Amino acid sequence: MAEAWQPHDDGINFHTRKWVRPEDLNANGSLFGGSLLKWIDEEAAIYAIVQLGNYRVVTKLISEINFEASALQGDLIEMGLTATHFGRTSLTMRAVVRNMITRKRILTIEKIVFISLDEDGHPTPHGYSSITYNRDRMPHEHPDTGTIRLRLPSA
Ligand SMILES: CC(C)(COP(=O)(O)OP(=O)(O)OC[C@H]1O[C@@H](n2cnc3c(N)ncnc32)[C@H](O)[C@@H]1OP(=O)(O)O)[C@@H](O)C(=O)NCCC(=O)NCCS
Repeated sequence: MAEAWQPHDDGINFHTRKWVRPEDLNANGSLFGGSLLKWIDEEAAIYAIVQLGNYRVVTKLISEINFEASALQGDLIEMGLTATHFGRTSLTMRAVVRNMITRKRILTIEKIVFISLDEDGHPTPHGYSSITYNRDRMPHEHPDTGTIRLRLPSA
């Protein structure tokens, strides 16, 4: 049975909320797992950028996912992440998603690993070992364009 909702989930802050729309449903009429994973991957990427101070971060590993409960059209869900391990070039996070309407936990992912890359796409040390709750590590804008310029994959 799905675990009951608790206001504080192992110190995780729930930053992002989503409204389950018709395009997010599977053939069963409930939330499509692929939509949820896309949202979590994006959330984890943004979290990793903020924590590691580098826009060039990529998903390396997502551990086993146990879908404990679901959501229906119109439900509101919230996603939370916290860093559990700062490696040399990696960041490991734990994710929890829960349904704000039914107050059930939808899933937990114990390990999401992102890697910090250099301009050539190789792992690069990020130099951090603890969580920041500020925006003090945000990468700076590109001085010429005012925007962030990412390396394009070679053809
Ligand atoms: C990310 C990538 C550059 C890492 O290359 P790699 O040769 O495995 O790198 P390394 O062996 O030097 O390891 C780099 C880090 O990854 C970690 N790592 C490697 N394999 C891992 C695994 N299976 N699980 C968890 N962490 C892993 C290492 O522990 C290391 O972390 P640390 O520096 O904090 O100790 C490469 O695997 C890659 O390009 N993968 C595709 C990423 C991608 O495109 N993701 C989007 C999904 S399509």
